Amino acid sequence: MSLTQQITTALGRVRNARLDTDVMSAEMVQDIATTVDGKVQFTLLLDSRDDATLVRDVREAVVELAGVTDVKVNVRDPRQQAPTPARPGRALPMAPEAKAAQQAPRVAAPTPVALPNLGRILAVSSGKGGVGKSTVSVNLAIALAELGYKVGLMDADIYGPNIPLMMGLEQQPEVNKQAKIIPLEAYGVKLISLGFLIEKDQPAIWRGPIVMKLIGQFLKDVDWGQLDYFIVDMPPGTGDAQLSLVQTTLVSAALIITTPQQVSTGDALRGVKMFERVAVPVLGIVENMSWFENPETGKPIAMFGSGGGQRLATQVGLELLAQIPMDPRIAEGGDTGRPLVAVEPSAPASKVITALAARVVDGMNAIAARS
Ligand SMILES: Nc1ncnc2c1ncn2[C@@H]1O[C@H](COP(=O)(O)OP(=O)(O)OP(=O)(O)O)[C@@H](O)[C@H]1O
Ligand SMILES: [Mg+2]
Repeated sequence: MSLTQQITTALGRVRNARLDTDVMSAEMVQDIATTVDGKVQFTLLLDSRDDATLVRDVREAVVELAGVTDVKVNVRDPRQQAPTPARPGRALPMAPEAKAAQQAPRVAAPTPVALPNLGRILAVSSGKGGVGKSTVSVNLAIALAELGYKVGLMDADIYGPNIPLMMGLEQQPEVNKQAKIIPLEAYGVKLISLGFLIEKDQPAIWRGPIVMKLIGQFLKDVDWGQLDYFIVDMPPGTGDAQLSLVQTTLVSAALIITTPQQVSTGDALRGVKMFERVAVPVLGIVENMSWFENPETGKPIAMFGSGGGQRLATQVGLELLAQIPMDPRIAEGGDTGRPLVAVEPSAPASKVITALAARVVDGMNAIAARS
């Protein structure tokens, strides 16, 4: 049997409960492509009414086949396919209700489901990339765990998921007997990466209601237990994708990370505005890479200028919650999976992040008391 036939047979065993048939008979699978070295790619037409776990089911069915080295599932909403060209001839006048239906959005965005077991949800965001969101997310999560809280961490950066690496984790999560995903765990923090679920290079679905549903369902499918804090390491930027992520995960508050540079604070300002638009309170500003301590003199060197974090905080009427110094051990710890807060708690940067964790707790308590 050829690999494509084997794939077709395997997918023929994956059921779509909504349609009470398998995904092949339901014509949900298109464009199966294979390479000689066992790479497989196909399109799954996933209707927003379908169970989003089908993405995982089809992937698992194919991954198990002998000779398959890689599986890429391109998810597409069948209702968002290109419309068929109009037939030639004179168009009949359209009834007003038909016209309204045509103009209405084809798929309504699903209302996010509250997940109280995640506890308080904090988005770690920035306008600009590379300012230290992932670094702060990881070290802050560990600092909160060390304060005795139960902490979950989600790497929501599907384009560059690097949190597992920063936490020293390489394995894929497993599934328990109740078919729930067991989060990975390191340094007392439970971790999951959206990269486990969503393929790269899918900007179209990343924005749409389907992806919101995927994330919502994915979060429900993970066996988190009861958490106190859930940290979301956001992808860089302030566009639609970030906005729908904030809305889908029902973020309770946000932290904005910036470096002291003007370009970074300008982007961070857009980040603050994004959260304001969706009425998510911003806890405050965190300035990262604030200075570097000259090892010979012990004096701080402002590598990226100074005062940017405070200027931004004043401009938007928020507090500057922390200034994290540069420390080569942070970068090194990120690359080797040994976060600074865990391995060198007495380093100045670790102390700043531990103090930040306490301020986050206070800020979240204050927000909870207000609502
Ligand atoms: N305070 C610091 N001292 C030294 N290096 C740092 C510090 N903060 C971050 N870094 C390093 O800077 C780089 C970028 O940090 P990080 O990946 O956390 O940023 P990011 O905002 O998550 O980036 P992206 O937008 O790509 O997701 C990493 O190599 C990290 O180790
Ligand atoms: Mg990052």
